[in-house]
This record gives sequence, structure tokens and C-alpha cells, in this order.
Amino acid sequence: MKTSNDIRDAFVDFFARHDHEVVPSSPLVPHSDPTLLFVNAGMVQFKNVFTGLETRPYARAVTAQKCVRAGGKHNDLDNVGYTTRHHTFFEMLGNFSFGDYFKDVAIELAWTLITKEFQIPADRLWITVYHTDDEAFDLWRRIAGLPQDRVIRVATSDNFWSMGDTGPCGPCTEIFYDHGPEIPGDPPGGSRECGDRFVEIWNLVFTQYDQTGPDERVPLAHPSVDTGMGLERLAAVLQGVHDNYDTDIFRSLILASAEVTGSPPNGEHAVSHRVVADHLRAVCFLIADGVLPSNEGRGYVLRRIMRRGMRHVHMLGCQEPAMYRLIPTLVAQMGQPYPELIRAQPLITETLKLEETRFKQTLDRGLKLLEEEMAKLAPSAALPGEVAFKLYDTFGFPIDLTEDVLRAEGRGVDKAGFESAMERQRAEARASWVGSGGAATETVWLEMRERVGATEFLGYDTEVAEGEIVAILKDDEQVERIAAGESAAVVTNQTPFYGEAGGQVGDTGVIFTGEGAEFAVDDTKKHVGDVQVHLGRLNAGVLKLHDIVEMRVEGERRRKLRANHSATHLMHEALRRHLGKHVAQKGSLVAPDRLRFDFSHPKAVTGEEIRAIEAAVNERIRRNGEVVTHFMVPDDAIAAGALALFGEKYGEEVRVVNMGGDQGERFSVEFCGGTHVRRTGDIGLFKIVAESAVAAGVRRIEALSGAAAVDHMEEQDRRLREAAAVLKVAPGDVPERVAALAGERKRLERELAEARRELASGARGPAEAPPFKEVGGVKYAARRLDGVPPKELKPMADEIKKQIGSGVVAIVTATDGKASLVVAVTDDLTARLDAVEFVRAGAHALGGKGGGGRPDMAQAGGPDAAAADKALAAIEEALAAKAKAA
Ligand code: SER
Repeated sequence: MKTSNDIRDAFVDFFARHDHEVVPSSPLVPHSDPTLLFVNAGMVQFKNVFTGLETRPYARAVTAQKCVRAGGKHNDLDNVGYTTRHHTFFEMLGNFSFGDYFKDVAIELAWTLITKEFQIPADRLWITVYHTDDEAFDLWRRIAGLPQDRVIRVATSDNFWSMGDTGPCGPCTEIFYDHGPEIPGDPPGGSRECGDRFVEIWNLVFTQYDQTGPDERVPLAHPSVDTGMGLERLAAVLQGVHDNYDTDIFRSLILASAEVTGSPPNGEHAVSHRVVADHLRAVCFLIADGVLPSNEGRGYVLRRIMRRGMRHVHMLGCQEPAMYRLIPTLVAQMGQPYPELIRAQPLITETLKLEETRFKQTLDRGLKLLEEEMAKLAPSAALPGEVAFKLYDTFGFPIDLTEDVLRAEGRGVDKAGFESAMERQRAEARASWVGSGGAATETVWLEMRERVGATEFLGYDTEVAEGEIVAILKDDEQVERIAAGESAAVVTNQTPFYGEAGGQVGDTGVIFTGEGAEFAVDDTKKHVGDVQVHLGRLNAGVLKLHDIVEMRVEGERRRKLRANHSATHLMHEALRRHLGKHVAQKGSLVAPDRLRFDFSHPKAVTGEEIRAIEAAVNERIRRNGEVVTHFMVPDDAIAAGALALFGEKYGEEVRVVNMGGDQGERFSVEFCGGTHVRRTGDIGLFKIVAESAVAAGVRRIEALSGAAAVDHMEEQDRRLREAAAVLKVAPGDVPERVAALAGERKRLERELAEARRELASGARGPAEAPPFKEVGGVKYAARRLDGVPPKELKPMADEIKKQIGSGVVAIVTATDGKASLVVAVTDDLTARLDAVEFVRAGAHALGGKGGGGRPDMAQAGGPDAAAADKALAAIEEALAAKAKAA
């Protein structure tokens, strides 16, 4: 028996041998189609190639594409479990020709593959073609040699495939497999509901047109081919079973579900096991592709699938979370072709377990309430909308979960009542909203959020994506369009642009349309929590509401932002380890060119500490560990050691970013919605460039990472080399040389001061008495020493005092147009002579006011340097008067 993995390989191999490029499955979240919730067909990733907007280096391709049909236009969620071949997640095998081969080769390849390679007997195969497509009809007759009655013309849209309301489309031909007379059902061509005997296994679309409007269709420049075959259906055929759920992958999941829940795989609980197996695949693949449970958009579809699965686990009699225990079985089955499952296994496990644990708390109570309410109803009466709303609002029951419970009872829900209860709650929320910004503008955003919903952020996984314009604001007014030259705020349903939050600045980049519009995004902001707003200017063309646009984040800038943000996390942890656990974030800026981090710490961080912190961060960078993100309940995350901002309000779930750890050891674990590097090695290098105080007890560190850090260090190196050249030594000898020069300078300064002192004292040598005159019986030594630094005057005065033994010393210096004056009185005279009094007399002569000091030493200054000699004379006069009086 061929396993599903063998079949996938055989399909891809066959087309590779026929010159098809093997293209990997695109992620489930369509980056190139904003109108789709999830990728739901193989051709989605090639949409623009068919219409000619995009070219690829190949004209033939083959894929095994992951698809999800839940929540959107193609919603199979309600059927899953109750039929043999509906799935929320499935794989579509397909071959594609982009203007290369057309109908004949497509039919020939398909026929060869299924009848020769896969050896499906031709007499089990039935074909449908579009009723007017004589060419396809004839080709089937000629290539496959099928009799007339086995090629059926179908006039309905079943045989005309279109991607959506617009986009590539064309007639198609379908291959059906006859599972045999023991299964009821009619041949194709009749109603689709006629039994399960004849199952469509492969759809070959001859993509010939581009649907441009409701009634308008233009021929494509190059007719193309898009085929799609459900791997699960093909596996059922090749494994000789009729039911997709009996194929190898589903069987192993169902058996694992039986083992974990302790409920037999077949029999009364078969439906629940199927639901669990199917939903587990969707959940795991969606999380691996970046979707996480939330109350909006894609995240809510995921949550609905999860909770529907959990209710079936509950029906299987399992009291404990169980779905997450099936993950290893799925990874064993599908991890090899889809390694993203292996990479994301810890995240999937944690996310699913958390959702199961939390929902468990309200599931029982909700089901009890539902039972009580049903007991009150007449047989087959619908459940009142109010009750369904209460289940949704209080117990977290998505509406389809409630419907799934009611289905067993043959009941529905009063949907209109549910909607009006929902609307009432919205109106209340609107009335009580207290915004953070200006009330008027916040109201605009709040209303917009209600109308267009939250913006889906795709920027963790991609920097390029398509979006649909859902609002344009010019000067806070909503407009339908803007023209070249106008500035505006543009909102799209999804975006790769990061709106400023958590210190990380907003992204910049460009938004284009196919019609030549080019909007330069200068900044991206977030309003009312999750409406992302692109601010900028339309450089060319016209931008209109509902345009489908391509959005490109400026990649190099974003790379720098990621590196700086991750470096901030590593530094935060390094600070805590080196300075202590009191270190708490007080502010943070993550810009493309630098990072700034404010934190609580009572004193300056020493140079030695800075070096140690830098070394610790760089060491974690070199370990090059993966950066792993999880979603957790805030309390659990904090209990597990995650760093949260004190006083910050967090939602029901928080994103937790782990990095720098090694082999089970945790390093940085922080709540963060920002964008980060994939591995710490991507940061490259970390360098602190400044440390300062911002407020009492708060320090600030500024740092660089990556190329900016390298540039900084190169600049430092250049300066060192320049200094070495001036000093005429090797760069390595600069510190020694500078130390020697500094020592030398100190010695020279000392000698110079000494020389000045000698000069001041007027002595030729120690033996000779200094010049002074007797004034009223007191020795008076007066000096004028221009150019001597004022701070040297006092030691000079002391020196002269020592030399004259008893008397009054006055030194004046005129420097830079100002005069400074010092007067000293020897201790034996201070009882009757006051240095302060003399210095004031001198200062007065210098045009200054005041002067001060002690009786033995006083100083003053004055603006009139030219009066220096007069000052000395004034002091002499004052001394004469004083001496006489005494
Ligand atoms: N696009 C077609 C389908 O989804 C064939 O691949 O059925």
C-alpha cells in the first residue's frame, strides 16, 4: 500500500520528470491575496502569474499545497466529521502551465499519471467537461480512448472554475472515480448530492480568461492550466478505501485519539474522532504558519476550529486536555514533508494546551446551560439568539460550536437574535469607550474599527504582502480616494507594516497598485489597540477605497529595527544579572540606527560593569540560539519568569519572546509584540556608547547593534590610529605614551609653578632676603605678576609670608583683561591687621566690589586690569593708615 507521503512524492516526481519546477507550498496565510482568509487552492500563489502581473523563471510548475477551507467563502467546517471527504485542512496536488502547454498536454499528463503511474483501472474513471468544450471532449476520447457515455458534458458552473468574483478562470474538466456499486450514488453530471459512489478526484482548469467585473471577462494573453487533486481523496482510492478518514494519516490520528481519550475508534464516537483528527491538522498547520488564536479574523477561525475540536474531545468522555497529546503523532506522519511542523512543535503544543486548559473552565458550564435551555424548548424549536449570545460572550462558545451541539438535536439558532444581541453589546462598548488620544480622533478610529475590524498583522512572517484598502483618511475625514501629491492615513485589512508600539518605531515603505499608484509610507501607527494606520503621501496615481495593493516594508530598515529590538532584550537581562533584580525597564526606544533603554538603578553604571554587560550580550549573540515566541496567559507567563512592564495592561493572551538561552537554560523572557531576529547571531555585534542619568534613580544606556556597532568601532579605531600617528608610536603603545606625556606634563606644571613662586618672592636664592618696604613699621611685600593663573596666587603669597616672617603680602595679576588680587597677613599681625579689609581696598581700585576670605588670607577680583598698580598702592595706603592708628 502506498502511504500518503509516497503518493505526494510520486505526484511531484512525475511532473518534475516532465520539466515542471517543483515549487514549495506557500504558507496558509495568503500574502499575495488579501481577499482570501486562507489559501484554499494550489493556484492561489500563482494568481498574478496567470494574469501576467508577475513573471517567473519557469513556465511549468508542480506543487503540493496546504489548504484550509474554514471560515471564508469556502467553509467546510460544519460538514467535517459528518461526511467521508470534507476537511478543514487538506493538501491539493497540482500541476500548472503558465502559457506553456494547454488542453492536450494537460489531459495526456493527467491520464498517464493516474492510469500508468498510479494504475487506477480506466474502467473506474469518469470524465466531465464543460458543455461547450468540444475540444476537451474530443481529446478525452482520443487520448484516453473513453467511450462517449463516459465523457459527460456539464453546463453548470461545476465545470467552469473561477477563483472568486474576479481573477483567472476558465472551463474545466473533472476526473471522477467510481468506488463501486456497493456504495449508493449516481454518475457525475446530475446533482452533487447524489451519493458518494462517484467521487471527483481531479479538476483540470483551462485558465483562459481574467474575470474583471461581474459581467466582464477578458481573454488571457496566454491560455494556461491549473489542476487540483485532493491528496486525501487520491489516497483513499489508492489505499482501496472509500472514506478519507480510513487513509493512513487519518487512521493513525484517529487511533491516537482513541488511545488518549480511552474511547473506541469506531462506533458511536466515530464522528468525534474524525473531528478531532481533522481539526488537529488544521490547528497545527495554522499555528506553524503564524496564526495564533484570537478574537479577530484568522485567529478567531483558528479558535473556532480548536474549540469545536475540544468539545468533541469532551464528548469522548475526556476530562483533561487531550488534543495537544496527539501532536507527536501528526508530526511523525507529516513532519518530514512539512518541516515547519517540527520547528513549531513547541509553540503548537503550548498554544493548544493553553487553549484547551482555559476553555475547559467554561465548556462544562456552558454545555450545562445549553442543556437547560434546550429542555425548555419545544421539539425542533430554534435556540433563542440571546442564549447563543450568552454562550458566546460568557462561556466563549463560538456560534458554530453551539450549532454543532444543536445539530444532534435537529435544532438551529435564531441568528438574527444573536446578531442583535451582539450589536447591542457593541453599542454599549462604544458608549463607554475612554480613548487614550484626543477624544475626537479616537472616536473616528473606534468607529472605523467596528466597521472594518482589526488590521491583521502579517509582519512577523513577511515584509511584502497584498492588502485591500478599507479606509482612507485625509485631515481626519474619511474619503473615497486621494490623488497624487496628497497626504493621507491609509488603513488596509492586513499589513506587513509594524505600527509603533513597545518602543519600536513604525515601519516605512511603499504601497503600490497595479495601476501605477505609489504611496510612500513615512510612518505606521496603531490606533485603538489594533487598527494599523499607514501615514504618508501619494507620489503618483490615484488610490481608492477597496483597491488591492501591494505593500512593501523597507527591508533594510526593518532588519536594523529587529536587531536593535532583540539586542535590547538581551541587554535588559544582562543588566539584571550584573546589576541586580531591581533593574526594571522605565522606557525604551528601538530605532533603526540606535537603541535607548532607561531603567531603575540608584547609581551610575561603572565602566567595568558596562564592559561586563556588553560582553554578556555579545556572548549570547554568538551562541546564535533561536528566538522563540509563544502566546501565554499573562499570569502564567509571569509565573514562568517572563518580564512584564509593571502597571501595563495586558490582554487575555500575551506574546512572550524567549532568546539567548541555551540547552534548556532560560535567558531573556519578555512580553513583547515587537519584531525580532530569527537567531541571536543575526544581531551581529552589540556596543554601548553612552551611560547617563535621566532622573533620580533612573539611568539611561544608549547602544548600537549590527553594522552601526561595527561603524562605531571602526571610527574609534580610526581615531586611535590618528592619535598614534601624532604621537609617532604604534596604536598599541598609545596608552603608555599618553600616560608618560601626562606624567611629564604634571612634572612640568609643578616646576613652572615653582619657578613662578620664586619669581614672585623676588629672591634670587634662599639666602637672599626678598624685597619689601616698611610701611608704618610693618613689612609690606607688593608684587605685580601678569599672566600667572589666579589659582597660583595663594601658594605664592604663603611662600612670601614665610620668607618675610612678619608683615603683609599683596599680589596682583592681570590676565585676559581682568585683575585678580590676593592679600595675606602673617599670623602675628592678624589681631590688628585684617587681610579682608586690605583686599577690599585693592578691589575697589580695580573697579570691583567685595572680596573676601579670612584675616590671614583674602582674595578679590576686578574688571580693570589697567588699575593693577593702583590696587597695590591703595593697599599700601590702607596699611599706612591702619599702622598709624595702631
Ligand atoms: N483551482 C482549481 C481548484 O481549486 C484546480 O486547481 O479546484
